Amino acid sequence: MHKSKAVIARDKGKTVEVIEIAVPEPGPNEVLVTIKSCGVCHTDLHYREGAINDDFPFLLGHEASGYIKEVGEAVTNVSVGDFVIIAWRSPCGLCRSCVKGKPWYCFDSRNAVQDMSLADGTILSPALGIGAFSELTLVDAGQAIKVNPSVNPNTASLLGCGVMAGLGAAINTGSVAMGDSVAVFGCGGVGNAAIVGSKLAGAQDVIAVDIDDKKLEWAKEFGATHTVNSLNNDPVDFIRSVTDGNGADVTIEAVGNPKTYEQAFYARDHAGVLVLVGVPDPAMNINLPLIEIFGRGGSLKSSWYGDCLPSRDFPKYIDLHLDGRINLDKFVTETISLSEVESAFHKMETGEVLRSVVVFE
Ligand SMILES: NC(=O)c1ccc[n+]([C@@H]2O[C@H](COP(=O)([O-])OP(=O)(O)OC[C@H]3O[C@@H](n4cnc5c(N)ncnc54)[C@H](O)[C@@H]3O)[C@@H](O)[C@H]2O)c1
Ligand SMILES: [Zn+2]
Ligand SMILES: [Zn+2]
Repeated sequence: MHKSKAVIARDKGKTVEVIEIAVPEPGPNEVLVTIKSCGVCHTDLHYREGAINDDFPFLLGHEASGYIKEVGEAVTNVSVGDFVIIAWRSPCGLCRSCVKGKPWYCFDSRNAVQDMSLADGTILSPALGIGAFSELTLVDAGQAIKVNPSVNPNTASLLGCGVMAGLGAAINTGSVAMGDSVAVFGCGGVGNAAIVGSKLAGAQDVIAVDIDDKKLEWAKEFGATHTVNSLNNDPVDFIRSVTDGNGADVTIEAVGNPKTYEQAFYARDHAGVLVLVGVPDPAMNINLPLIEIFGRGGSLKSSWYGDCLPSRDFPKYIDLHLDGRINLDKFVTETISLSEVESAFHKMETGEVLRSVVVFE
């Protein structure tokens, strides 16, 4: 058993705590990872607010990279010392989706079998089966994805969740193609990654929509060709005006809100694709005329983790970044210590940062 300093959420809405936890030695198919850095994602805050489930206490953090410290029996994909990004999807290979050849939808994704716990033995629920605001974490070997170790680990960490979700929403779910027009609603970490993904796929016009001018400035730096502040302008009219009156081929909702979903629905060209990557609150509803859903054709899709296959996608995007084809460094706004996670939540809520990244020495 190892001891590790970690950030936990003990109760709904309560300030997070830095405490010492117990992490077991890896068993069969498990690996122990020394965390190098871990991004602060909106989903950690959702856990803390009790918006995901009630399985408190949570071991927070799930956007991480680090080095393999120990491997359990039967682990073949990584060895001690490898630099890895931790994924929250480790396809089982056996469920009905894996068997159909679509492991990116895996319905029985693997996590570590053993539990991490508080000093008194209380079992912790690791956020998204990871729990990486911790010096050490225990995951399924399939969650540890080896990538080129020359990448900045702070940048690499972000590919573990938000950046992958955005890139994949555009490339895997939206199938953005050469010359397409794309509109992205919400330009946080996920939305800006969708902008980067759209450009990489060859999109011609990329329209960024947000209610915060600073976010729109950042969106331009990530490659948006047009921006619109939807507090002052109707984004649907604006998107039509820059797409010959037609609407965008692909619209991507990266907020998780019925209003922006509706805007993304109407800002889409006939037979276009709408991708929902923002996570709505369970109480939210949407009301759309069925005739509009029929008459506009195309598809309305949801994107879980950018429909990514981590073992295929993480090494690829890190290599594209190292080759200078995309720039993922700009997603890191600041680096912080483990004790600053609570204040990073506030900065995220007030829109001061794209990503704060906890760095372990
Ligand atoms: N589907 C997935 O697998 C997946 C993975 C990671 C994150 N997410 C979700 O994606 C969403 C975005 O995550 P993030 O980390 O980028 O969050 P974020 O808070 O950094 O960004 C949200 C952005 O939306 C903007 N916004 C808020 N209300 C708006 C409105 N009415 N119109 C336009 N813009 C508005 C904000 O100004 C901000 O720039 C969250 O819901 C998150 O939970 C989904
Ligand atoms: Zn996340
Ligand atoms: Zn499966």
